[in-house]
Amino acid sequence: MKQPRASLDPPPGYERLNRYSRIIVDEALCRGIAVELLDPTAGEMVLSLGDRRMSTLESLSELTSAVAFRRCDHKGYTREVFARAGLRVAEGTIATFDQRDEAFLATWHDIVVKPVRGEQGRGITVGVVSPQELAVALATASATCPEVLLERRCEGEDLRVVVIGAEVVAASVRRAPVVVGDGASTIATLTEELSAARLLATDGSSHVPVDDITEAVVRSAGYRLDEVLPEGTQLAVRRTANLHTGGTIHDVTDELHPDLRAVALAAAAAVGAPVLGLDMIVPSVAGPDYTLIEANERPGLANHEPQPTVARFVDLLFPETARPRP
Ligand SMILES: Nc1ncnc2c1ncn2[C@@H]1O[C@H](COP(=O)(O)OP(=O)(O)O)[C@@H](O)[C@H]1O
Ligand SMILES: [Mg+2]
Repeated sequence: MKQPRASLDPPPGYERLNRYSRIIVDEALCRGIAVELLDPTAGEMVLSLGDRRMSTLESLSELTSAVAFRRCDHKGYTREVFARAGLRVAEGTIATFDQRDEAFLATWHDIVVKPVRGEQGRGITVGVVSPQELAVALATASATCPEVLLERRCEGEDLRVVVIGAEVVAASVRRAPVVVGDGASTIATLTEELSAARLLATDGSSHVPVDDITEAVVRSAGYRLDEVLPEGTQLAVRRTANLHTGGTIHDVTDELHPDLRAVALAAAAAVGAPVLGLDMIVPSVAGPDYTLIEANERPGLANHEPQPTVARFVDLLFPETARPRP
């Protein structure tokens, strides 16, 4: 039997890592894999064991090909890759910034406007229902990226499935941030309090911005930011469930319907990347229906406790250090 390797000391720059990088470094060090931090703030590192060296940017490693990366990089292109593989995507089109965008809205009534490149929910407006909102949403999205995608808004739970090495390792439902009225505080104050709590709970990686999008979401629910929310009333202050803008995450790996598991594996195979976070909207995680939303080439591995996302990632990079499975 092989001797367990001794855990190594943290490398210079360790204290500047975010939680997504830190868990990867911790897992590597305790397997005796050396870590050199090239850019701790960006999570860029080189892991080495014997003569094997692996460069990674958080969970994006050199095992992901440039072709697979490109398939994830442009949401319009990702949709084509999924559709070609026979997988379901939301009805959608690239915005033309003319009357065709309004025609798309008129067809679907309730749409999502998002930059084709972007992450963490940046520049996305969910629930656009009028031409006026469409104009604002197009301007918001194109400030992040000049190319913009329009999609039919799907109703349901926001599911993230993490696939590593052709295996579903974790599935989580993400929920948009919700404030609860106390009969005394304004919605703006409640949102700021929630934001402070999320910042603390996530080591600085999640907060709820009080910006134009928050204002619009609150307004469309019939409230104003400077209004006192009645005691016990729950109000969603964002429509995107991204963690970075205050969403919360709940592990549902054991409840995931086998068809959704198969969809995630087929989507990962179509993209061709060994590590992916697939986003879908599903009526229920326990049912077979889904709409694929996007593929993330650098999924956060830190939000899926108790699932072994980091262990599987390091197994993939250094299979010789994989521990026997129970
Ligand atoms: N077609 C859609 N229908 C409903 N909600 C959507 C749709 N597209 C995006 N969203 C919401 O916006 C969030 C972010 O969209 P996504 O395409 O995953 O962009 P990002 O790369 O910024 O995470 C999703 O997790 C979901 O909550
Ligand atoms: Mg996403």
